Amino acid sequence: MSSKINIAIDGHSSCGKSTIAKSIAVKYNMNYIDSGAMYRAFTLYCLDNKIINNQSIDHTKLTNYINDIKIDFSFNNKYGVSKTILNNINVEDKIRSVEVTKNVSIISAVQIIRKKLIALQQEFTKNNNVVMDGRDIGSKVMPNADLKFFLTAKAEIRAQRRYEELSSKGLNVSYKNVLKNLNLRDKHDISRSINPLIITKNAIVIDNTNLSLNEQDEIIFSKIDKKLKYENNY
Ligand code: DC
Repeated sequence: MSSKINIAIDGHSSCGKSTIAKSIAVKYNMNYIDSGAMYRAFTLYCLDNKIINNQSIDHTKLTNYINDIKIDFSFNNKYGVSKTILNNINVEDKIRSVEVTKNVSIISAVQIIRKKLIALQQEFTKNNNVVMDGRDIGSKVMPNADLKFFLTAKAEIRAQRRYEELSSKGLNVSYKNVLKNLNLRDKHDISRSINPLIITKNAIVIDNTNLSLNEQDEIIFSKIDKKLKYENNY
């Protein structure tokens, strides 16, 4: 079944948005855009160029450098592997560092940065066939998306999953700190004045606290199948 639809996936930090978005992209042969990776890449650039220092932004420097920042993706549809490219360099691993994670909420609350990244995200969706995950995709980036999902799960469960993921990569983190950072990021996402994380009226809310990945796939894939059937007038 083929059709060109756009799918928005929003939700809290660490609730598996990118995992399901990649599965959708592979199953339905769509492009995957990780909008969080764009904010992370921007943060990495700002850290490397001392635009952000001790969690404080040098706004003059930011204005001077903003047009030098080019972000792109390379997504392998067959294997579901996404690479984030910052000024022609693959930064997919670097943008997941603790330092970037600690600073990304500050960067993503800055109006000129959001404006630039949202324009780029909208450019990516122009020809449809995109699944994008983030915080403001259904509300701001793709208000007319054909399907919108909002994912959530209890903070303790999300922190436990994230802790296990980071530990399995050999990173020395504590569950307590992972939970603390996650709660802080939730707070920033929900309370920031520009484009906060909200549940849009037409979003399908999925709480995956007690769902396995397979169970979640089943629910989401069946909604997409239904939408595609409708789009194709079956
Ligand atoms: O999804 P993530 O954890 O990789 O996102 C990193 C940060 O970027 C997150 O703390 C919130 C921010 N973000 C945002 O403000 N808007 C988006 N559309 C995506 C992410």
